Amino acid sequence: MQNRITELFKIEFPIIQGGMIWTSGWRLASAVSNSGGLGVIGAGSMYPDVLREHIQKCKKATSKPFAVNIPMLYPDIDKLMDIIIEEDVKIVFTSAGNPKAWTSFLKEKGITVVHVVSSLKFALKAQEAGVDAIVAEGFEAGGHNGRDETTTLVLIPSVKEKITIPLIAAGGIATGKAMLAAMVLGADGVQVGSRFVASEEASNHINFKEVVVNANEGDTHLTLKELAPVRLVKNKFYNEVQKAYAEGANTDELKTLLGRGRAKKGMFLGDLEDGELEIGQVSALIHDIKPAAQIVEEMMSEFNKRKAELSSL
Ligand SMILES: Cc1cc2nc3c(=O)[nH]c(=O)nc-3n(C[C@H](O)[C@H](O)[C@H](O)COP(=O)(O)O)c2cc1C
Repeated sequence: MQNRITELFKIEFPIIQGGMIWTSGWRLASAVSNSGGLGVIGAGSMYPDVLREHIQKCKKATSKPFAVNIPMLYPDIDKLMDIIIEEDVKIVFTSAGNPKAWTSFLKEKGITVVHVVSSLKFALKAQEAGVDAIVAEGFEAGGHNGRDETTTLVLIPSVKEKITIPLIAAGGIATGKAMLAAMVLGADGVQVGSRFVASEEASNHINFKEVVVNANEGDTHLTLKELAPVRLVKNKFYNEVQKAYAEGANTDELKTLLGRGRAKKGMFLGDLEDGELEIGQVSALIHDIKPAAQIVEEMMSEFNKRKAELSSL
């Protein structure tokens, strides 16, 4: 398959595995890249030296293109950027911040830059900042998200109407039919997160993977909007957050409740009660843990099958 996204990244299929803290290390990223999609190392939960190690291991595990995701909330971002340059990373996905901050720096070094947004306003800012492509992520998505709750179904055509650079849809996409729907809405490719959390190569804890395959519709909620909005599984920690809201907690009290290391505790160490478990609404449609290559292959075969059936509608 060839389009603006496969050409931009020099990949076979326009399927991008979203960068994910505690989840997408070199194993997952290289498995996705080897299967024809684009694997993305999630640097947000890595110390600089750990990122370097993941990049080096990824290069050994695949000769195909891969990317690194850098959330701009990262405190020591300069150190991560130095490693990106030193290790000659060719594609960077920035997220959770101002696209103007690092785009020119990376572009001057010949790096392909993609920025993740959750609204049309930020899509326009990213295009203006000179990024090569945009990921537009709807309200359904796992992980951190926007405050406006715009769903993928509305966000993708809104962004498509106003931008000219390649557009990648994210949020709620775990199957070939959802990929086809996103592309009908105007996307050139898709970014998939939650589905790859339940993959064999994902580095998160097996307890968390099991929560994902057992999740039902309604089991997640976008919360903590005062800090950084995040979609969480409704576990004990989530219930404590809701109780704090009911008691009128202010931002500082919410920060104290969140504390440090909650995401690691839940997703990486497998503490299902006191940890933070980030996952998308689409977890309700994920019923098994499988190899990343099989996820890509099944998405593409369902995409092609459904595309062929469309003429009978
Ligand atoms: C466990 C988890 C961790 C995530 N971490 C990040 C991250 O570090 N940086 C980022 O830009 N997006 C992050 N995301 C968002 C994904 O990259 C992706 O855009 C999103 O999951 C797509 O929606 P979906 O979950 O419905 O597939 C995360 C998502 C999940 C589920």
